[in-house]
Amino acid sequence: MSDKLQNRNGLDFAVADLSLADAGRTQLRLAEHEMPGLMAIRREYAAAQPLKGARIAGSLHMTVQTAVLIETLIALGAQVRWVSCNIFSTQDEAAAAVVVGPAGTVDAPAGTSVFAWKGETLEEYWWCTDQLFAFPGGQAPNMILDDGGDATLLVHKGVEFEAAGAVPQPSEEDSEEYRIVLETLRASLAADGDRFTRMAKEIRGVTEETTNGVKRLYKLAKDGELLFPAMNVNDSVTKSKFDNKYGIRHSLVDGLNRATDVMIGGKRVVVCGYGDVGKGAVEALRGQGARVAVTEIDPICALQAAMDGLDVVELDDVVADADIFITTTGNFGIISADQMSRMKHNAIVANVGHFDNEIDMAGLAKLPGIAKKEIKPQVHEWTFAGGHAIIVLSEGRLMNLGNATGHPSFVMSNSFTNQAIAQIELFTKPGEYATDVHRLPKHLDEKVARLHLDALGVKLTKLTKTQAEYIGVDVEGPYKLDHYRY
Ligand code: NAI
Repeated sequence: MSDKLQNRNGLDFAVADLSLADAGRTQLRLAEHEMPGLMAIRREYAAAQPLKGARIAGSLHMTVQTAVLIETLIALGAQVRWVSCNIFSTQDEAAAAVVVGPAGTVDAPAGTSVFAWKGETLEEYWWCTDQLFAFPGGQAPNMILDDGGDATLLVHKGVEFEAAGAVPQPSEEDSEEYRIVLETLRASLAADGDRFTRMAKEIRGVTEETTNGVKRLYKLAKDGELLFPAMNVNDSVTKSKFDNKYGIRHSLVDGLNRATDVMIGGKRVVVCGYGDVGKGAVEALRGQGARVAVTEIDPICALQAAMDGLDVVELDDVVADADIFITTTGNFGIISADQMSRMKHNAIVANVGHFDNEIDMAGLAKLPGIAKKEIKPQVHEWTFAGGHAIIVLSEGRLMNLGNATGHPSFVMSNSFTNQAIAQIELFTKPGEYATDVHRLPKHLDEKVARLHLDALGVKLTKLTKTQAEYIGVDVEGPYKLDHYRY
């Protein structure tokens, strides 16, 4: 379907421009230096090759940092195919570098099959995702590495519809995107009515990166529909308390600056959601001198926000006063089209939650007399019938990846070290993990943190044996009980 599909040197791929590979490789080299956890995992497992025989279907933002993860999985013995989990988040030079590989050339790429470019259409996005499952020699993946759960969703829906013998017609309420998913599966079913069912039997597990994907997995498990074991990487402490918080603290402001270069100091900003991502967003905005208020539905998070010195408001009450609106909830329908129409002239509206339904973009596009003008890619001015306008970033999708380059390498090294360890756990211990959602044991979480201390010159105090006994832990850890909240 995509005119970008190529096969060179026996490698199939679809990226924007393979000649960007050198530029990508330079960035990868710098990123490797900032990703000590991943590089330590490469050294630790170089000889053992724990992922030998693993065929990993990866769906996660195709950035420079992800490129280092991919090459780590390969260094551990895996075969990999990769797509981005968002239509705007690919860094084209990183995608090209991964295809060419450290030892290949543009004419004879020797890396990994990647199907991702910045600015895919939704049809292209699902076409790419479908390519994940076609390993060379007609083989299927036996592992999934997911971010948001789209690859996992395709397999589960595929199995469901194959069992039913047909893909249902879309209903009135179905989104445009879900209609495309149904079309993708209809074509698959017509070509091979058993494809996903066979595949699901081979898959040893999925490791899931983000809050929203994890929510989908717990729902599948609760409904008795989960088809293989899943590792919740997001809720490793060294993931959600670092990437979600400190990552967004970096990349939210980066995205705002690159998109608009608006002065943040002094502006009134509303952050919807005060979870891990919301807390990082607020810290960054306050650091810039913004006057920040939050919205919350959870009394605990609302109280935390108040105790942190923030106004906790209802969006409707401040919608006409604020200059910048950021959604971070992982929920849908947070900012309505009507609310956007009541915002100040040139108010900025942006989302960093995983999916694009936090801001009602479809409703905005349907308002009578509305006009959309592209200021530059992923920055749009929407002018209302009355003449005033708002600026929407990345069409309501993850703006820290659409307008900037996502989180920096060091924090992603924490997340991706968890991913690599989780892949090893599920792949090398088939049968040990039930078909349910699991978290990595705490000693591995602590290991991930430990691997990042030296790079920051952190000197850890060593517990004495008697101290360890006094607080009831082992000298080598784990140092906290599972319910500790950090
Ligand atoms: P979280 O669950 O810690 O925080 C979300 C917060 O939003 C919760 O406190 C919840 O009570 C609140 N919330 C839910 N509905 C709300 C509503 N209607 N109004 C106001 N608040 C509401 O989740 P976390 O880890 O902060 O993740 C949030 C989203 O960000 C998820 O979609 C996640 O997948 C995504 N994410 C994005 C990243 C990025 O790079 N942009 C990085 C990591 C996560």
